[in-house]
Amino acid sequence: MRQRKPLVVANWKMNGDQHLVHQVSDSLVALSGALPDILICPPVIFLPNFPKHPNYRLGAQNLSEQPAGAFTGEISAVMLAQAGASHVIVGHSERRTLYGETNSLVAAKVAQALAAGLTPVLCVGETAAQRAEEKTFQVLAEQLDAVYSAQPQWLAASVIAYEPLWAIGTGNTATPAQAQQVHAFIRQQLARYDAAAAPDVRILYGGSVNAGNSASLFAQTDVDGALVGGASLNATDFVAICLSAKGE
Ligand code: PGA
Repeated sequence: MRQRKPLVVANWKMNGDQHLVHQVSDSLVALSGALPDILICPPVIFLPNFPKHPNYRLGAQNLSEQPAGAFTGEISAVMLAQAGASHVIVGHSERRTLYGETNSLVAAKVAQALAAGLTPVLCVGETAAQRAEEKTFQVLAEQLDAVYSAQPQWLAASVIAYEPLWAIGTGNTATPAQAQQVHAFIRQQLARYDAAAAPDVRILYGGSVNAGNSASLFAQTDVDGALVGGASLNATDFVAICLSAKGE
C-alpha cells in the first residue's frame, strides 16, 4: 500500500470575514512539526488577504466552466490561480442541488481547472433517499464516470471528496465504517479508470467532521483527510482537526 499524505480542507462556504482570515492564518502559521497538507477555501474575495506561508495553501469553492468572456458574475480558473489558489472545489452538493450543476457541467469545470494548473477537489455523494434505496454506489459511479471515463488521465491530478448529502451540515457524520466502505468502493472505481494512479489519489471525507470525530475517520485505510465546513469557521477547532491527521 502506498503512503498518501493527509489533506485537510476548510470550506468556508459563504461565511467568514477579515477577522477569521487573521485568526485562521495566524493559528496555522504558528504550527510546527508533522502537519498534513492544509487547504483553505474561503470566499474568493479573501484569497489575496491570506499571507503566503508553507503551512497551508489556498483554494476556491467554485469556478466557471468557461475560459473567459461575457459570463457576468463568473470567475475563471486562470483568475483563481492568479488570485493565489492552487486548488478548487468542484461539484459540491450545494452547487449540484441549489444551482443545478449537472455531471457534465462538473466535468467541464474540472477541465477548466486542470487547464489552468489548479487541482480539482471533486465532490461526490448520495442523498439519504438514494442510500435508503441502496443506490449509493450507482450514484457515485455515475458522478465519477462523468469526469474520468472519457479523460482517465485527469485522475492523477485530482483529489476526490466523498460527501454524503445526509451528513453535510446535519451533525450526522458517517460512521468510520460507513466512510471506509464507500471510500474503498471509490478507490476501486478509480482503479477502473487508471489502475496506476488510483492508489495515490487522496479521497477525503466530508460531512459534519469535527474535532471530536476526525481522528476516528482518519484512522480508516482509505480516508485520506477531510473537507470541513462548519467546524472550519472556528480556528481552534480547525487546527485540532488538522492536528488529528498525521503529517508525513
Ligand atoms: P459540514 O460541511 O462540515 O458543515 O457538514 C461540509 C461540506 O459541505 O463541505
